[in-house]
Amino acid sequence: MIVGLLGGGVIGAGWAARWVLNGHDVQIFDPDPEAPRKVNEVLTQARRAYAKLLTRDLPPEGALTFAPSVATAVEGAVFVQESAPERLDVKQMLLGRADEVADPSVILASSTSGLLPSAMQAGLRHPERLVVGHPFNPVYLLPLVEVCPGPATTMQVVNDTAAIYSSLGMHPLTLRKEIDGFVADRLLEALWREALWLVNDGVATTSEIDDAIRFGAGLRWSFMGTFLVYRIAGGESGMRHFMAQFGPALQWPWTKLTDVPELTDDLLDTIVSQSDEQASGRSIRELEALRDDCIVAVLQGLRAARPGGYAAGATLDQFDHHAPVDVIVDDDADRALRSPLSTMQRRVTADWLDYNGHVNDSRYMQLSSEATDEFLRSIGSGDAGEGGGSYFTAESHLAYYLQAFEGDELTVEVRVLDHDPKRLRIWTDITRNDELVATAEHMLLHVDRATGRVSSAPRPVLDMLGVVSAAHESLPMPHGAGRSIGQPRTKR
Ligand SMILES: NC(=O)c1ccc[n+]([C@@H]2O[C@H](COP(=O)([O-])OP(=O)(O)OC[C@H]3O[C@@H](n4cnc5c(N)ncnc54)[C@H](O)[C@@H]3O)[C@@H](O)[C@H]2O)c1
Repeated sequence: MIVGLLGGGVIGAGWAARWVLNGHDVQIFDPDPEAPRKVNEVLTQARRAYAKLLTRDLPPEGALTFAPSVATAVEGAVFVQESAPERLDVKQMLLGRADEVADPSVILASSTSGLLPSAMQAGLRHPERLVVGHPFNPVYLLPLVEVCPGPATTMQVVNDTAAIYSSLGMHPLTLRKEIDGFVADRLLEALWREALWLVNDGVATTSEIDDAIRFGAGLRWSFMGTFLVYRIAGGESGMRHFMAQFGPALQWPWTKLTDVPELTDDLLDTIVSQSDEQASGRSIRELEALRDDCIVAVLQGLRAARPGGYAAGATLDQFDHHAPVDVIVDDDADRALRSPLSTMQRRVTADWLDYNGHVNDSRYMQLSSEATDEFLRSIGSGDAGEGGGSYFTAESHLAYYLQAFEGDELTVEVRVLDHDPKRLRIWTDITRNDELVATAEHMLLHVDRATGRVSSAPRPVLDMLGVVSAAHESLPMPHGAGRSIGQPRTKR
């Protein structure tokens, strides 16, 4: 798919990175002669961040070209995103030109932070294809994009735009009606105004205000919004109690939100010098890399918080879905007899490495455990499946044969060695290009979660296990099965 981008500054470059890394060809128009350098630098940052963030391989990168005019940027494109400076006249001019040359089926989206879509639709030949797609910086990492239709925008355009953004790993939030500043910027603007007052009044410095966010509410905001967080703050009596407790404070002078400090030279000097001090000489690219690493860590944390991830972690998990697990049960018995069942593939990301550049030991346990979980789900067991019971690991033994490094494709194969109604003995081989990297053996017990006692697995799970292990009975016992630490070992 070809995408036309109008404007290649901070936001346009972020869009370029998201599209190109998702395998789409991007044509950018930006009159700034420095734009190619800047966009390519942002693309480099995005590649670096994606290598840490995603476990799957992205498609081959799309081509990035710089177009000499709006018409050439839009030529052949099926989607156009405008990210020019926040000036209505500039946006109207660019969108008007795109509207003249693009086929009426092409969607025109604007990254505006707060201009009304109706104002941008005025004068277009096809106002029904204009929609706001308001992203957040860095566009290649933050999933939120506000989709705001104007009065003339069709539902089809809204839905198609949201679907396109979803396909790029984003979380589109469709607004119910147009409003200056949309939803997210109205919230950010309120915080920003208050922050400027606190500096203006000498109450706190720029870094103290940032600390007040990043060590507190900012952490909660990354997975629950203000309303859910406050509901919890109301304790068992919930939201009503919270409102009763803090409602009166709304009448007290806790904010200055109706007022704005005058941006005098003095106030600007204070803000700029405090901000310089906060940056401690680090360049924008260094700060961007630091920011990206932190976003990656938060997203990965939210992905790990629940199976399938939570909040933005769920968006990431869907985007970076695991290679489907190939479980062989009774329909391909020949193949099952030849190989262990159930395989999982993972590419090693940078955050798995030790200080010495090798994959940390704990990751082999994680890989084996995740592959075992996938296997259990495939036979109808797992955390949600079986009415109050599931398999718990009682004992594990790992053996390491080779080191693994960033970028390695590791394959985990799971095999059942033995089972009875309450016990399940699992073996996993972790390989790279058919070379054995590590093995793991686990003894699992089926536990009734209500009583906490070992119990028989349900009949359907045992039936599946019976089919699977019967298919593997003729396989030789893996070298090292049943070994204890320090026993001599032979490589397979
Ligand atoms: N920076 C943010 O955090 C952020 C977040 C969300 C949305 N936005 C919105 O995205 C848009 C772009 O903001 P930005 O931060 O990338 O600004 P920016 O100044 O970094 O980039 C604007 C780019 O537009 C180019 N430009 C100027 N005139 C042009 C023209 N006639 N045709 C094509 N390109 C032209 C400039 O050379 C520049 O590269 C704005 O509407 C802004 O409100 C910004």
